[in-house]
Amino acid sequence: LAGGADTAALEGKRFLVSAGGTREPIDPVRYIGNRSSGKQGVAVAAAAAALGAKVVLLAANVDEAVLAEVAENPAVRVVPVGSAAELQSAALAASSGADVVIMAAAVSDYRVADVAEEKIRKEDSAGEPPTLTLVENPDILAELVHMRRPGQLLVGFAAETAASTDELLERGRRKLRRKGVDLLAVNAVGWNEGFESAENTLHILDRSGEVVANVSGTKQNTADALLHAVAAAL
Ligand code: CTP
Ligand code: CA
Repeated sequence: LAGGADTAALEGKRFLVSAGGTREPIDPVRYIGNRSSGKQGVAVAAAAAALGAKVVLLAANVDEAVLAEVAENPAVRVVPVGSAAELQSAALAASSGADVVIMAAAVSDYRVADVAEEKIRKEDSAGEPPTLTLVENPDILAELVHMRRPGQLLVGFAAETAASTDELLERGRRKLRRKGVDLLAVNAVGWNEGFESAENTLHILDRSGEVVANVSGTKQNTADALLHAVAAAL
């Protein structure tokens, strides 16, 4: 799948790619996070750069070892972010200069309403477990869709748990309609699937909900397939 004439359309294009998972602070030493390693998003950034694109990579808590794939690449500018709020401001700042936006990061849907200034200590809570009150984070992708400039292509990811591929695709189609993106890459995740591993399975849906690619393999393979779908959609 790599290479091919159609990906020539990506040469010189400006990409904004997010990767990893946000962390929402609870207190100075603790956070709410998720299992996204950033491997898929970093692979997408590397593949886009290899096809001649200029990439801004918003890396949410991605390990140095994972970022090593793009660290020396002059076509990839890495912007580290922590929380969803940080990802939001970096994404909004960079989006107007992007031809293609790919939101591969796992964004925490909620954050802690009142972040404690000091470490929460057991001795201060008289034996009662603390209650965390959560508030919803802004939907960054939805904001980018609202702000989209003419010709800009927006790509979402959807990591879903599902009992069957049919259910997975049905959930994907609902999300696609709700988000208003041009492409949605749906992948099955579970206790032993999707996260941390070097391999992934993506079902790529176009604007109409049609499956334009089903690809299993390394995160490099799936990144290449996604970029073919991007080139075809541009
Ligand atoms: N996303 C985002 N901002 C959020 C939540 C999600 O930009 N606050 C983006 C993700 O980066 C991804 C897409 O939206 O590209 C879908 O994320 P997902 O978590 O699957 O969808 P949600 O709309 O949050 O729905 P839910 O988690 O309830 O399934
Ligand atoms: Ca979510």
